Amino acid sequence: MKTIVWFGFVLGALSAAGDVILTKPGQSATFKCGVQTYTQSLVWNHGNDRIISVSRSGFPRKGKFNERSKLKSETTLEISGVREEDVGKFICTADGTSYEHTLLVVSVSASPSSELQLGSEATLQCQVKGLNPPDSPVRWERPDGSLHSGSQTVQLKSVARTDAGNWKCTFSHDGGKYNESLEIKVQEPGPKTAAPSPSPSSKDVSVTQPPSTDAGLLGLKWWMWVAVGVGCLVVVLLMVFVIVLCKRLKRKKRKFLNKKTGRQPKTYCQCDRPAAAAKPQQGRRKKKPSALPLQPVLIA
Ligand SMILES: *[C@@H]1O[C@H](CO)[C@@H](O)[C@H](O)[C@H]1NC(C)=O
Repeated sequence: MKTIVWFGFVLGALSAAGDVILTKPGQSATFKCGVQTYTQSLVWNHGNDRIISVSRSGFPRKGKFNERSKLKSETTLEISGVREEDVGKFICTADGTSYEHTLLVVSVSASPSSELQLGSEATLQCQVKGLNPPDSPVRWERPDGSLHSGSQTVQLKSVARTDAGNWKCTFSHDGGKYNESLEIKVQEPGPKTAAPSPSPSSKDVSVTQPPSTDAGLLGLKWWMWVAVGVGCLVVVLLMVFVIVLCKRLKRKKRKFLNKKTGRQPKTYCQCDRPAAAAKPQQGRRKKKPSALPLQPVLIA
């Protein structure tokens, strides 16, 4: 018996409170009147201001919101390009019966963006306009479902992997609970291999920030090191090349000089083995005369 009475009371309270419409700034809000049709007249008000009025026998007349308001069906109102100052009561009166609805404008945002770098700093903001009571608490719920300690602003000193997912901005209005979610993505830094990440749940600055700064420095130095390494390699290769060239040139010069002048190596050989040295000397002497007559022939 008691539960039925209580249930009836809750239903009555709900119908009296009407719909609560949550909309983000710039989007459109749709209000269902509460009845599908009317026989005589339909009026939509924003507080005391007339938005639109229609009667079966005449043209619809627009007031407040002008171009931003339109009837989507016979009784459903749509407000486009919602602004924060649009919050409040939207009252539909069909054939003299009123149905009251409430518009709340909720903006959830993450800065610098909803795609955050692991270890970076970030701020989540939730702003709800039109709450009753106006000072009812607005709080953030983490992706794992736990309530974030704090208010409508969340400061993340160092974004962790566990921060990825759907954050919910929760608030109550006229006794009902509502929420607006914001999806956060966490990006891993690219060329980071030696990341000390044994603290996925910890959000302390001291624990999780060092890897982030390390990664940043590494990210910077990675290119510099490659450039320096390539530079050094090129210099070393050039030096080796130059040394080899010099040696070859010297060898050629020596051979050339030896052929032209003293034939010193042969004299050394002669000293070592005088008997054997005589023959090669003859051989080379024979070669030279044979080579020399060719040159004049070619020139001639
Ligand atoms: C958030 O709101 C939706 C309806 O919009 C509801 O189904 C859900 O249970 C709410 N979640 C929380 C955590 O309040």
